[in-house]
Amino acid sequence: MISPLVAVTGASGAVGGRVAARLARTGVPVRLLGRDPSRLPRLPGTVAAPPAAYGDGEAMHRALDGAHTLFLVSAHESPGRVLEHTTAVDAALAAGVERIVYVSFLGAAPDATFTFARDHWHTEAHIRMTGVRHTFLRDSWYLAGLPAMTATDGVLRGPAGEGRVSAVSHEDIADSASAVLLDEGAVHDGVTYALTGPEAFTLAEAAAELSRRTGREIRYVPETREEAYASRAGYGAEEWEVAGWVTSYEAIAAGELDTVSDAVPTLTGRPAESLADYLRRNPESYRHLLMDA
Ligand SMILES: NC(=O)c1ccc[n+]([C@@H]2O[C@H](COP(=O)([O-])OP(=O)(O)OC[C@H]3O[C@@H](n4cnc5c(N)ncnc54)[C@H](OP(=O)(O)O)[C@@H]3O)[C@@H](O)[C@H]2O)c1
Repeated sequence: MISPLVAVTGASGAVGGRVAARLARTGVPVRLLGRDPSRLPRLPGTVAAPPAAYGDGEAMHRALDGAHTLFLVSAHESPGRVLEHTTAVDAALAAGVERIVYVSFLGAAPDATFTFARDHWHTEAHIRMTGVRHTFLRDSWYLAGLPAMTATDGVLRGPAGEGRVSAVSHEDIADSASAVLLDEGAVHDGVTYALTGPEAFTLAEAAAELSRRTGREIRYVPETREEAYASRAGYGAEEWEVAGWVTSYEAIAAGELDTVSDAVPTLTGRPAESLADYLRRNPESYRHLLMDA
């Protein structure tokens, strides 16, 4: 039997690139989508689609023509992100796509504290409404974000209070997504998986883990909302974007990101990666925190 063609969006990025590499290794036919083909990885057995941005329905239709399954990575955040996503979904259906696996966010809800998580809920609702076969992968915060958001002064700042976050690795997301994509049966249809790490920790605990790895004191400094907006005011970002950054911490404080799910072990057949595992395997993630860096 010929395997159905899987179209992988975001293939130039961290999640999509990993998924594309995994699928390519299995020999299923894969088409890579991106806005700029020169940024797409060169992987044996994969073909690059003509350039397509989600918001360009005609380009997406062309890029997806003949594909059976769409792996849809959420777009870079923007005020128009839901429309970009729904345009991509509608183009996919018009092009004949029969199944969509969408990368969503933990706790997606119309009134989620994390403003960007609301986009995911609206995108999910649109996909559900079309009646297409679908699976939603609701990722927690990325583990990679914890060292990345710790400043070189050794401080992780944000209004997360004493809340907990069940952060997950890109590898676990990619392995879980690949397991879903490679299983053509109906078992994943209509299912929403929370992709989380094996535990939920406070940012103070994350700072302690970073201290152990780096050998210097890393501190979590809880901010008030006002302090959080003030400390990010100099980045030159627009209001909606700063609100997204700040509310991602406030969602932790509100207890909206502390779900620990067994979806990663169930889908991959092995335990999910912890923050300690992640840091051990990715020393480059905290290089900027080393005193002699
Ligand atoms: N869970 C978390 O903690 C977390 C954190 C940050 C972001 N996210 C969300 O998760 C997504 C995937 O994460 P990632 O780490 O893989 O991000 P990434 O490395 O930045 O990759 C994003 C990918 O999406 C593509 N893309 C972005 N906007 C697009 C658009 N409008 N049309 C077509 N392609 C578009 C990019 O392609 P180009 O080469 O064309 O730019 C890139 O390949 C992000 O895009 C964001 O929505 C989640």
